[in-house]
Amino acid sequence: MRYKGIIFDLDGVICHTDQYHYQAWKALADQIGVYFDENINDRLRGVSRMASLDIILEKSEKIYTQEEKENLAATKNEIYKKLLQQMTPADLPSEVKETLDTLHEQGFQLAIGSSSRNTRMILERLGLAGYFDAISDGTNITRSKPDPEVFLKAAAFLGFDPKDCLVVEDAESGIDAAAAGGFDSAGIGTAASYQKTKWKMNAISDLPQIVAAQA
Ligand code: BG6
Ligand code: MG
Repeated sequence: MRYKGIIFDLDGVICHTDQYHYQAWKALADQIGVYFDENINDRLRGVSRMASLDIILEKSEKIYTQEEKENLAATKNEIYKKLLQQMTPADLPSEVKETLDTLHEQGFQLAIGSSSRNTRMILERLGLAGYFDAISDGTNITRSKPDPEVFLKAAAFLGFDPKDCLVVEDAESGIDAAAAGGFDSAGIGTAASYQKTKWKMNAISDLPQIVAAQA
């Protein structure tokens, strides 16, 4: 097999928490009277909490201190975590679970590579605690995507070189991070129409065929 490990982004790939991120940022932006829409939201995909806030505040006339920004990010995270409380294993799309199980049966090691500091809580709510062979997330990195750190750590946790791993992403920043780290990438959603994405997918269920063909 060409690949030994497959590294999945979480928000927007494994589950639809990208919608909750949007709703929480929108609520915060409305509170402080800053314009925010889905196009700006697309720029936040894969980007850390504080870096996302900086992007949102580009539309603000007020200059915020570091302490104020930390409070705003904390407020957003509280709204986001409340939204996450609604999640149950029923929010894990069946095609995602079936794809992951098929890839495991094909002999691949599976990892998470997410900028989110809420990764473990989300995996627990989806019934996926303990499912992945390695988890690299916002708690073990200092630089968020498009820096490759989160994927390099995921590959190291699996014990594989980047060239032996495929990164699965929905964000352009994640595809850039994969390329910067020497990984091949497969993209869905926004990332499926990005020119740097190696395997452009309609759905995550395309993956088993793509990786099986790379013998
Ligand atoms: C990424 C999301 O997975 O995690 C970003 O795509 C988000 O939108 C980032 O900002 C950080 O998430 P969290 O849960 O640590 O605020
Ligand atoms: Mg994502």
